[in-house]
Amino acid sequence: MSIVADNEDFKKRNDNVKAEKIEYDRNFENSIRPKTFDAYIGQSALKETLKISIEAAKKRELPLDHLLFYGPPGLGKTTLAGVIAEQMGVEIKITSAPALERPRDIIGILMSLKGGEILFIDEIHRLNKVAEEILYPAMEDFVLDMTTGKSQTVKTMRIPLPKFTLIGATTKAGELSGPLRDRFGIVHRLEFYTEDELSQVIKRTAKILEIDIDEKGAHAIAKRSRGTPRIANRLVKRVSDFALVKYDGKINEDIANESLDLLKIDEFGLDTTDRTLLRLIIDKFDGGPVGIETIAAAIGEDVRTLEDVCEPYLLQAGLIQRTPRGRKVSPETYRHLGLKSPQTVEQRGLF
Ligand SMILES: Nc1ncnc2c1ncn2[C@@H]1O[C@H](COP(=O)(O)OP(=O)(O)O)[C@@H](O)[C@H]1O
Ligand SMILES: [Mg+2]
Repeated sequence: MSIVADNEDFKKRNDNVKAEKIEYDRNFENSIRPKTFDAYIGQSALKETLKISIEAAKKRELPLDHLLFYGPPGLGKTTLAGVIAEQMGVEIKITSAPALERPRDIIGILMSLKGGEILFIDEIHRLNKVAEEILYPAMEDFVLDMTTGKSQTVKTMRIPLPKFTLIGATTKAGELSGPLRDRFGIVHRLEFYTEDELSQVIKRTAKILEIDIDEKGAHAIAKRSRGTPRIANRLVKRVSDFALVKYDGKINEDIANESLDLLKIDEFGLDTTDRTLLRLIIDKFDGGPVGIETIAAAIGEDVRTLEDVCEPYLLQAGLIQRTPRGRKVSPETYRHLGLKSPQTVEQRGLF
């Protein structure tokens, strides 16, 4: 009895710690999140298109077209939605698809919107069918079609909604249903950031957090940030802790590199999970192709994390390839891991 109680107590405490950590991460992210287009670094083509759409909408005194942003996590989709709201001078209501499980969740939020406001739905590919069906007329005609009563006496009611803008964000555009995707006026992919752009992100964050970092130090961190601002921000914080404890708190190139080596982040920005994944394909599956489920089971990660978090960067860096029969590595992967490329059949002289 007391063991059970202890376990539950422990679990509760553990959950509390987790909740605090998530809360802390969120506060940290919010404190460094750019609020304006000027502060939002990179994605210049997308920014230009958006600025024009926003100006046009303002001139017409109409809300902005519905927008869909897609791309790997941490590239600035949520941030951009906030910047757009700021630029339009309107409120933004933020939710995510898993929070819209029951019809009344989505109906409630739609009915709470005021004219011109922005509704942001994160992970929109996870919206269920019922929620989608409610969203279609809301997006297209700004109405809610409600049915009341049962079979014979069923009545439909149209409730008008104020004109609003839906901004959807997803890491998986391919999993969005066709009809939902077609209802977005503007669909845009966010790109990985260049080293220069990430170094600007790092310097901006360092300034806000009062971290002392020089140009080369910023570049050293940028180089290992996998093209992703969220990772760049996380690393600058970790390196700063290291610099404070081991040195005088100032970050330069050497200190950045020493700290990142300690964190086992290599010069491509790959961490232990990435390297385990690549080594597995090489060592156990002869370089592939091997199915993602098999990989996930073997390294004890879930498929979704591998697909959403690990793979996009590995694909873009050319360290992994997607084939109809599964994932395989490239000659570049062997080189990067300091391994000899396997000889081809011809090289082995079998023919
Ligand atoms: N273009 C950018 N310029 C500066 N910082 C950015 C930019 N994009 C993202 N960030 C930073 O990265 C973090 C993650 O961005 P976020 O918008 O939450 O990514 P996503 O929604 O695509 O997962 C934010 O806290 C923000 O500080
Ligand atoms: Mg987000």
